[in-house]
This record gives sequence, structure tokens and C-alpha cells, in this order.
Amino acid sequence: MAKQRTRIVSVVNEKGGVGKTVTVLNLAAALSLRGKNILVVDMDPQLNTTKGLGFTSDENDLSVYDVIKPDNPVSADSVISNTSWEHLDLLPSHIDLSGIEIELANELGRENRLKDALKPFSGQYDFVLLDTPPSLSLLTVNVLAFAREILIPCQTHPYAYSALDELLETISIIKEEINPKIEVMGIVATFFDQRTRVSKKILEDLRSDIRFKQKVFNTVIRINTTIAESAYYNRPVVFFRRSSTGATDYLALADEILGEI
Ligand SMILES: Nc1ncnc2c1ncn2[C@@H]1O[C@H](COP(=O)(O)OP(=O)(O)O)[C@@H](O)[C@H]1O
Ligand SMILES: [Mg+2]
Repeated sequence: MAKQRTRIVSVVNEKGGVGKTVTVLNLAAALSLRGKNILVVDMDPQLNTTKGLGFTSDENDLSVYDVIKPDNPVSADSVISNTSWEHLDLLPSHIDLSGIEIELANELGRENRLKDALKPFSGQYDFVLLDTPPSLSLLTVNVLAFAREILIPCQTHPYAYSALDELLETISIIKEEINPKIEVMGIVATFFDQRTRVSKKILEDLRSDIRFKQKVFNTVIRINTTIAESAYYNRPVVFFRRSSTGATDYLALADEILGEI
């Protein structure tokens, strides 16, 4: 049987604190439990995804920084590491990534560094999931030059909803100028709180807005304190407590994404 094409999925939102990292961690965990081979790439110098998969950050550890740096870059396969979980690998981040924009300032094709470095290896995986920092920096542009799909976590909060327009505008510029193949895979509502009117109202708005409604996942990620607890133990909630609503929601999201293939 022919192998399914690798899906290269970036999780993007220029706002911070909307659930990007938690979505990358738990979607990766959920898809790995479904038997898919996953590579997680942490492109945020804050290292939350790296730590969230149980990696400590030592100054001297190799990271995605070494893969995309201008001088003597190293091959990605010597940096990609197994995690404690089956089917789940990580290309970790490093604090030095925060300076890469300046280091690459004079490099031609600097927006394609990540794509060029990962293309030879991505075919080994069913999914490459890329976490991004909360800004449209060169790091995010590198992710968007490589990815084919964008998953947007949208907090069920009024400001988060109104920022979606701006984000879709940014994506259309990227599509025109850097990566014509990129598409929005979907928008997933996060931090949903059944008890508040505003959460329900935002979800209704998302699902009825002509610009977004085709793209909104049926699965909604509810607010769940076990998610924060699992972060404390450096584990995705899907592995930490399978019965939690956080784990349930991310497993449902994974199944919805797999069902779309
Ligand atoms: N569904 C949720 N319920 C409760 N807390 C959450 C949920 N999703 C994320 N969090 C917490 O909110 C904070 C921000 O989430 P995070 O995924 O790091 O956002 P981002 O990567 O977009 O900045 C983290 O402390 C995380 O543990
Ligand atoms: Mg994050």
C-alpha cells in the first residue's frame, strides 16, 4: 500500500496564550496514540513545547537553532530526538533561536532555512507539527514557508475572535509571496467555558460567520485545569490523564483531523 503523504501542519496565532503549544503537544500525543508517526518541531525560543515533552534545556544541547543557523549548520537527523513516547519525536528549541533573525539578516533565502533542512527527513513521518512563537517573526515565516496546512487555535474570547481577520490577512500575504501551497486546515476554539455566556456567544459567532464557518472544527477544546497540571509534570495531558476533558477533547480533535484525509 502506498504511504500516505506527510502532513506538515503549523499551529499559528500571532497572539500569545491562545493554546498553540498545548494544541501542538496534545495533538501530537493523540495522533501518536492513533499509531501515526509524529515529528514535533519547536520553533518558539520560549521552549514550552520542548519542556512539555519532558526535555530539559541545557545550554549545550543541539536544537533547531543548529539546524538553521548560517555557519556550519548541522543535519536535522542528528538533532531530532526520540521522546519517552512511541511514535513521537522532537526537534527541540533553544534560547539562541531568539537571535536568529539578526544572524540570518544577510542570508539569501533565509525564509527557507527550515524547509531546506527538514525536507529530506519529513517523509519518515505521517505528521510534522510545528509550534510557532506569538509573532510574525522570521521564525514563524520559516514555519509558514515549509508547512502545507495551518491550524489556528482561537480562544473563545472577544479579542481573540476579532484578531482572526488580521491573521487570515497575514496568511494570504504569505500564500501570495512565500508559499502558494499553504492552506488553512481549520480553526479550533480553545478555552471554551460552558458556564459563561461569552464563550458560547463567541463559538456561535465563529460557527455562523461566513468567513470562518467552513473552517471551524466541530471539536471544541474546553477549559481544563488538568492541562496546567500536566504542564507542571512536563507531559501532554493526553499522556498524563487520559480521562480528563483536556485529553478527551484533543483525542477528538485528532480523530476529526484524521477523518478529513
Ligand atoms: N484548554 C485549556 N484549559 C486550561 N488551561 C489551558 C488550556 N489550554 C492552554 N492552557 C494553559 O494556558 C496557558 C497558555 O497556553 P499555551 O498553549 O502555552 O498558549 P500559546 O502557546 O498560544 O502561548 C498555558 O499555561 C497552558 O497550560
Ligand atoms: Mg506557545
